[in-house]
Amino acid sequence: MAIFTSSTQAVPEVRAVPRHVAIIMDGNGRWAKKRFMPRVAGHKRGVETLRTVIKACVSRGVGYLTVFAFSSENWRRPQEEVNFLMNLFVSALSNEIDKLHKNDVRLKVVGDFSRFEPKLRQLIDAGEAKTAHNTRLTLTIAANYGGRWDLLQAVNRLCRAHPEKAGNYTEDDLEPFLTMAYAPEPDLFIRTGGEQRISNFLLWQLAYAEFYFTDLLWPEFDGAALDAAIDSYRQRERRFGRTSEQLTAAGEPQVPLAPLAQAHDENA
Ligand code: IPE
Ligand code: IPE
Ligand code: MG
Repeated sequence: MAIFTSSTQAVPEVRAVPRHVAIIMDGNGRWAKKRFMPRVAGHKRGVETLRTVIKACVSRGVGYLTVFAFSSENWRRPQEEVNFLMNLFVSALSNEIDKLHKNDVRLKVVGDFSRFEPKLRQLIDAGEAKTAHNTRLTLTIAANYGGRWDLLQAVNRLCRAHPEKAGNYTEDDLEPFLTMAYAPEPDLFIRTGGEQRISNFLLWQLAYAEFYFTDLLWPEFDGAALDAAIDSYRQRERRFGRTSEQLTAAGEPQVPLAPLAQAHDENA
């Protein structure tokens, strides 16, 4: 059984602040190019933005933050850029694990690690182990991740675990084998950098996420930009297949909700 209810099996509880935010951090290369710097300078700067956004999520009460750091298709980039990204991943993990741990952040990394060098794999294992019992925020880094890869590895593992049920699998059977089985489905999906596509990110889990696109390049994104995304989310009526009238009858919170900044002031 899955730990969290599936949005297609039962209507989830809708909260004023998204419980799970998933972000495609796009636009690093263009940010650097605009400044006549090499693309990789944008990636370096992108790590700083991630640090800011992690803090903002903690202070806004977001429980799960999932970020796309490297897709299964990003190996198609120039070798030099791929190498830089792998080294950046190693140095970011070595520098940040202790800070994440102090801030009660649980780290998870999802993706196909088979092409990673042993040093990177060791850091991932050590970082996950160290922070395993933290509860404030679960930070998931998707690295060499692809939504299709995730679905296929889940189907293959399910087949091996329950060959007797082949041909009759249900959602509940499959979900525990997806790499993010430990998290509820994302409520809010954000993509920076102006493109409006999923690029093979969480294909299964985004079934009922609210989508938000911004032209801001990832290094320009910050806490205020996150608030703008959450405010947009608060304007959405999440119907999960039902009619508006049914939501009213069920006594579900009416949208739009007050903007986040105002809500913060009220609580102050
Ligand atoms: C996103 O920024 C980071 C990764 C894909 C690793 P990009 O590198 O895709 O930046 P743009 O889209 O070229 O500007
Ligand atoms: C998606 O960005 C992957 C990450 C942000 C890691 P890309 O920049 O690689 O996506 P496409 O190629 O433009 O779709
Ligand atoms: Mg890009």
